[in-house]
Amino acid sequence: MSVHKEVKRVTTHVLSEMKLRGEKISMLTAYDYSMARLVDEAGIDVILVGDSASNVMAGNETTLPITLDQMIYHGKSVVKAVNRALVVVDLPFGTYQGDSKEALISSIRIMKETHADAVKMEGGKEVIQSVERILSAGIPVMGHLGLMPQSIHKYGTYTVRAKQDAEAEKLIEDARLLEEAGCFAIVLEKIPAALGERVAKELKIPVIGIGAGGGVDGQVLVIHDMLGITQEFSPRFLRRYHNLATEIKGAVGNYIQDVKSQDFPNDKEQY
Ligand code: KIV
Repeated sequence: MSVHKEVKRVTTHVLSEMKLRGEKISMLTAYDYSMARLVDEAGIDVILVGDSASNVMAGNETTLPITLDQMIYHGKSVVKAVNRALVVVDLPFGTYQGDSKEALISSIRIMKETHADAVKMEGGKEVIQSVERILSAGIPVMGHLGLMPQSIHKYGTYTVRAKQDAEAEKLIEDARLLEEAGCFAIVLEKIPAALGERVAKELKIPVIGIGAGGGVDGQVLVIHDMLGITQEFSPRFLRRYHNLATEIKGAVGNYIQDVKSQDFPNDKEQY
C-alpha cells in the first residue's frame, strides 16, 4: 500500500516517508478556496500557495510585486478548503531577504494568520540565517533553488539555470546547506535533469522539481498552466492536462448567445 493511500493528513514526516519508500510526491499550486478544495479532494500531497499568484491571479509580469498581506489572503482561502494536503505558503519578495528577524516576523504572520503548515523561500547560503531562525521558531521551511523567479532582474531571462559547472556546484552546496539547516524539502526549478537527480540522490530530504527532470522525488506545476488556463506560457517542462481556456471561452460564448437570444432564462429557470 502506498503512503499516499494510507494517510488522512499529509505532514512533513509523511513526505520523508514517501522519499524513503521511493513514492513520488505530487504538488500543485492553488490560490483560492474553490480550486484548493478540488485539488485536495483529488488527492494531491502538497498544495503550494505560490507567489506565482502575482502572475496568474494578479496579472503582474513577475512575482516581485505581490505583498505579504496578499499572500496571507490567498493562504487563508486555501487553508479553509484543505483537509488532507500539506499547505505551504511562499514568503514573497522583500519579506525575508533583509535580515533574519524580518524573515521570522513574516513567517510568523503567515503561520498565525493563514494556519498553513509551512513556508517556502528562495535562496541558499544568502538566506541561511533566515532559514535557521524561522526553523528555530518551530516553523517548517521548504527551500527553493535553481531558477528563482524573485531574482529575475539579476538573471535577465527565465532560461535553464545551473548548466555551467560553477553554478551547478553552488546549487549542490546550497542544497546541502538547506538540508543541514533543517529544511524538510527543497524545490528545484528549471535545471538539467542530471543535476536534479544528483541532488535528490545526495539529500535525505525530498527534492521536488519543476523542470528538473524525472530523477527527483516529486513534481510541482502551477495549476493554471497544467489545466491550460494560461495560454501564452509553454516551457518544455509543462505538460497540459486540459485545455480549460478553450472550454471556458466556449461556455461563456454559449451563455452570451443564450442571453442575447433570450433563450436564458427559460420557464424553469425563474420564480
Ligand atoms: O510560486 C510558485 O508557483 C512556485 C513554483 C513554481 C514552485 O514557486
